[in-house]
Amino acid sequence: MNKNLLLGAAVAVVLSGCSSIDPGKVTRPAGTVAFSADRTELVAEGEKLWNNPNLGKSGLACNTCHMGGAQFKKTFKVAYPHKVAMSSSMAGLDKIDAEQMVQFCMLAPMKTEPLPWESKDLAALTAYVEDVAQPEFQAK
Ligand code: HEC
Repeated sequence: MNKNLLLGAAVAVVLSGCSSIDPGKVTRPAGTVAFSADRTELVAEGEKLWNNPNLGKSGLACNTCHMGGAQFKKTFKVAYPHKVAMSSSMAGLDKIDAEQMVQFCMLAPMKTEPLPWESKDLAALTAYVEDVAQPEFQAK
């Protein structure tokens, strides 16, 4: 079995444990404000979190699944907000933005709670997705 097939099988096993996600859990609560800091600092912090296998409870880092653009579908090339197949089928969301996608992957593949909405971690991972992961994938 090649590496991609093996990863695909692992992703299917991880995701099969949760068939539906409460859309309220990936929707920013009214009155909360995203953490703000220097963008370069946020992206650098986000890169560390992206590679951290202890961020969630599945033992996987974001990068375990997404290394080199793996698992992303062509929707990721389109500017946010946009429709993502996984969050549409599991949470019934027609459109999702980058921050919500971070929260969605925390809940589903990472098997943990969403990050606190005003946390530096959420702002950092979102900045990394917007400034690094998405542009790299768009350039592929
Ligand atoms: C077990 C594998 C797995 C892990 C771990 C994982 N993801 Fe994902 N992620 C997926 C899959 C599968 C998709 C594709 C969903 C789709 O397009 O239907 C995806 C899609 C995405 C997308 C792009 C969706 C789009 O088209 O706009 C982003 C951004 C993302 N993940 C961020 C993260 C972040 C941040 C983490 C870590 C907190 C993470 N992922 C961890 C499996 C994973």
